[in-house]
Amino acid sequence: SAEDGSRAWLRYAPVPQASSHRLPPSIIALNSSSNSPVYVAGQELQKGIKGVFGKELSISSTNKGSPAIVVGTIDAYKKTYGSFKEARELEEDGFFLSTTGNTVRIIGQNERGALYGAFEYLSRVSQGKFSSVSYVSNPHAPIRWVNEWDNLDGTIERGYGGASIFFKNGYVVENVTHAAEYARLLASIRINGIIINNVNANPTLLNDRNIAGLARLADAMRPFGVQLGISLNFASPQTFGGLSTFDPLDANVDAWWANITNKIYQSVPDMAGYLIKANSEGQPGPLTYNRTLADGANMFAKAVKPHGGVIMFRAFVYDNKILYANWKNDRANAQVDFFKDLDGKFDDNVVVQIKYGPIDFQVREPPSPLFSTLRKTSTAIELQVSQEYLGQQCHLVYLGPLWKEILEYDLRADGKPSKVKDIYSGERFKRPLGGSAAVVNVGTNTTWLGSHLAMSNLYAYGIMAWDPAVEPDDVLQDWIRLTFGFDRKVMEVITDISMKSWPAYEKHTGNLGVQTLTDILYTHYGPNPASQDNNGWGQWTRADTFSIGMDRTVKNGTGNAGQYAPEIASMFENVDTTPDDLLLWFHHVPYTQKLKSGKTVIQHFYDAHYEGAATVQTFWKAWESLKGKIDTERFEHVLFRLIYQSGHALVWRDAINQFYYNLSSIPDEAKRVGNH
Ligand code: GCU
Repeated sequence: SAEDGSRAWLRYAPVPQASSHRLPPSIIALNSSSNSPVYVAGQELQKGIKGVFGKELSISSTNKGSPAIVVGTIDAYKKTYGSFKEARELEEDGFFLSTTGNTVRIIGQNERGALYGAFEYLSRVSQGKFSSVSYVSNPHAPIRWVNEWDNLDGTIERGYGGASIFFKNGYVVENVTHAAEYARLLASIRINGIIINNVNANPTLLNDRNIAGLARLADAMRPFGVQLGISLNFASPQTFGGLSTFDPLDANVDAWWANITNKIYQSVPDMAGYLIKANSEGQPGPLTYNRTLADGANMFAKAVKPHGGVIMFRAFVYDNKILYANWKNDRANAQVDFFKDLDGKFDDNVVVQIKYGPIDFQVREPPSPLFSTLRKTSTAIELQVSQEYLGQQCHLVYLGPLWKEILEYDLRADGKPSKVKDIYSGERFKRPLGGSAAVVNVGTNTTWLGSHLAMSNLYAYGIMAWDPAVEPDDVLQDWIRLTFGFDRKVMEVITDISMKSWPAYEKHTGNLGVQTLTDILYTHYGPNPASQDNNGWGQWTRADTFSIGMDRTVKNGTGNAGQYAPEIASMFENVDTTPDDLLLWFHHVPYTQKLKSGKTVIQHFYDAHYEGAATVQTFWKAWESLKGKIDTERFEHVLFRLIYQSGHALVWRDAINQFYYNLSSIPDEAKRVGNH
């Protein structure tokens, strides 16, 4: 039903084996003041248990001596029950869950941790996992945020799930029910912060009516431990505040930001902080005044510092009018070029937020070299749940495996193990802050993202932000059980099509590291390989009649390979040691170049597009075999999309293959492409 859509993985559907499981007779939510996360945890436990076990448990706030499901913070627990040995293992936001004996203990390092523990317990029982467990779970990194690119007029940039749940007609919405429901979903996957407006920010967010609105939204999300933050427009002091300048080193500008920041914190005392997109894609920034990006970031850092806020400063800084004629030009170089000399110059509460690859959420990119460049700066990785370049939720593309490859990538800084996940967590370079942010862009659609299956990406994002060591297929299967129940066939089919979906999409949209060959000028949707070259955006393939690929070598190209640490740099510098899946990212080669597989580049293109599209053809048929095992509303909704996807994969296949056949005049060995 539509309700199943909005409940997503928090359905709390009855579990067949639940009746034989012994459940304590009541819930004790320790020291919970109304609307605190522990209070919410108590309510959630009551609701979940009613759904899963069909039993109505009472909630009290004090120990009555009988077995119970106890939820609370370490401090509250100790006061009532005394100390326990796991307490000292708990880190901020972490929890201890124990279901041994005849009680269930859910103890958070803080209130948020207690709520996470409650959701963990409910996730286990909802999946029929009733065996006794006892463990501590701590987050991999302190920052686990989502970014929403909502505009004040209610539209969402790169959003595919309907209108904004936060804004309408220039103002924060009056009704915050959606915001609270979304915060609940986020808490269940341990997300602790949310930026609610577009990085291309509108300064009128700062007017009085909207600041009052921010308070309303923050109040709605606070009980779930989700802290609100906002994106700012760098030019606001001038365009909104009426000053003559927005120079970050001007005392009046500084004072203006301090003042408006204090005002916001009066309304939202626990605001998470600001997200800043500056000097990128035409947005204003400090470079306008010949100030550094660090000067810009630190101005905000000082304004939020007294309030404990954080500045997420985006590394997505580049010139979007670069000259194609210059062989050495490369947008992929921009981030390291802009940031390398600023390392160590950012205030302690600044975190540089880096997209996973050096370009822009492509179907395959190497990790951004900026991760191993910044040593004295806290960093966060930016991922994208919203499938901007990856089929915009009209295609099933499960992103867990893509993210896993990036998070586990070892960048070998100083010749030592330097996995991306250990860099942004702060561990590798001993930084106090760091973590991840994902662009999600949920909307008012009852499926949140516009597609039921796309929700596996939101789920996986949260779980992987908490613990990147998890395997993407395990996470997926938890999500399937929670979302669709226990049927074996359902599990098999959704696992299979999801795990095949990213490789298939890569094959029919842009293989060998050539980028997603979509329309990059406007829509970012559908095939348009011609748009990839001769543009100012710098997302280039340099395809001509003989050859294709970006030469990013130091010896002959843009030098981008040299931005990586030596071991990685020499691997990418050399055609023979560059993995096939990134060949065209780093090298410009003839279409007849042989791959490690023995195929030529062009034949690989033809074959991969056929293989990828053929795989996609199987998705809807597999799904159709689930008829009767999934409620009609969700069954039909997904089927419609998968049928569409199988058609669109053919459009992709033929458009791309024909394009490169026309360009290269090299026939397909299997005689499928061209005029035969
Ligand atoms: C992409 C996207 C834009 C967005 C930008 C960003 O280029 O298409 O809509 O504003 O990234 O991340 O800032």
